[in-house]
Amino acid sequence: MAQSVKGMRDLFGKEMRWFQRIEDTARRAFERHGYQEIRTPILEESEVFHRSVGEGSDIVNKEMYEFTDRGGREVVMRPENTAGVVRAAIQHQFFASSDPRLLYYIGPMFRYERMQAGRYRQFWQIGAETFGVATPDAEVESLVMLHDFLRELGLRQLEFSINSVGTPECRPAFHAAFRAFFESRAEAFCEDCRRRIQINPMRVLDCKNASCQAALEGHPLITDHLDEDSRAHHGRLKLLLDRLGVPYRENPRLVRGLDYYTRTAFEILSSDLGAQSALVGGGRYDGLVKQLGGPDVPGFGWSIGLDRLATVLQQVAGDAPEPEVPLLIPMGPRASERALVLARELWEAGHPVRLETRGLNLKKALATANRQGVRLALLLGEGELDRGVVAAKFLDTGAQEDWPLADLPNRLATGGRGWPQVTSTS
Ligand code: HAM
Repeated sequence: MAQSVKGMRDLFGKEMRWFQRIEDTARRAFERHGYQEIRTPILEESEVFHRSVGEGSDIVNKEMYEFTDRGGREVVMRPENTAGVVRAAIQHQFFASSDPRLLYYIGPMFRYERMQAGRYRQFWQIGAETFGVATPDAEVESLVMLHDFLRELGLRQLEFSINSVGTPECRPAFHAAFRAFFESRAEAFCEDCRRRIQINPMRVLDCKNASCQAALEGHPLITDHLDEDSRAHHGRLKLLLDRLGVPYRENPRLVRGLDYYTRTAFEILSSDLGAQSALVGGGRYDGLVKQLGGPDVPGFGWSIGLDRLATVLQQVAGDAPEPEVPLLIPMGPRASERALVLARELWEAGHPVRLETRGLNLKKALATANRQGVRLALLLGEGELDRGVVAAKFLDTGAQEDWPLADLPNRLATGGRGWPQVTSTS
């Protein structure tokens, strides 16, 4: 029997329900803030990621689904979407005017990573990108949207871990200090790190190897090498976060695993995910648009791991609420025809109802309904047709009452006997 590919999952049932709720809540948050959705292809030319995420990164070195297509093109199944969105924004001349562009996306990403809890080879991200504004104010606008969206979903223990990784101008001084530190104990680092120090010293900070992390004790900090403007930028970011009551902690060791960040970098870790797993990551990337062939336009953004967020919410809040759908059970051919017309009227009026279309007798239809956890069955037989009613049967209590057909939409909206107790998804 065929199985899904290792690291790639089918989403359904309770987990799917959380995905839907998260996506609905995210879309509402994005729309409140004036962000517009963008959907880019899953396949991008390889160059898009080599020139952005960076040659020294694990993603580009080890994790990309990269291949030559039948036409001889070098392509990659996107490991992230910031570079793809930037590629699209340049291609469609979003930067022809200097107006800010606020974009969001929801979609699958692909990384050939080693399997672990909460780490998949196809995973989903929700992301937001703000182009054209270099101020800390734009960052806070985006972070407040993220914070409030996560709170709306029911997460309370939120803390942003923030840092400034400086600019390409102030980085050489840090790199020199860091290289000197590294050389003084080079033998304590893994082979990967000895390669990383050549390409991008900051990647060493990101090594997952415990002995490398130990060898990093007392290393020089990028925050001690920031230029005046980066320092002021970081100061205002913190001031605004304080004003808005967004909780954060400074983490001078935070560097992130992608090469395009400038100044602000941040993550949200969740203790519910076990071993230091990040739920959200992002930051400023002022050189990226230019690096990918566009004008000199600043950018800031973040992505949430949807799979991880769904896991956390399941742990914190239990099952996502299910909307309740009554089952309309007709008995006999005349009732079946009437039931189709009736169901159509209910759907048109916006009422959920499911129709039993198999022509089962009442006993069998009710047995299925019970098995599926249906709470309200609407029975329509010859007798009910003659009286112009449906028999509303509450399967949890066994109680039954006649509801006039003309009054059905009203009853479903306002309820007889406590119906509806629809737990809304909003
Ligand atoms: P990232 O930190 O590589 O950033 O990924 C963001 C989030 O995606 C992570 O915090 C995590 O929740 C989720 N994620 C990453 N890899 C996996 C995986 N293998 N399985 C499950 N979830 C995963 C980016 O991708 C940047 N594009 C973020 C960004 C947007 N920066 C600026 N704008």
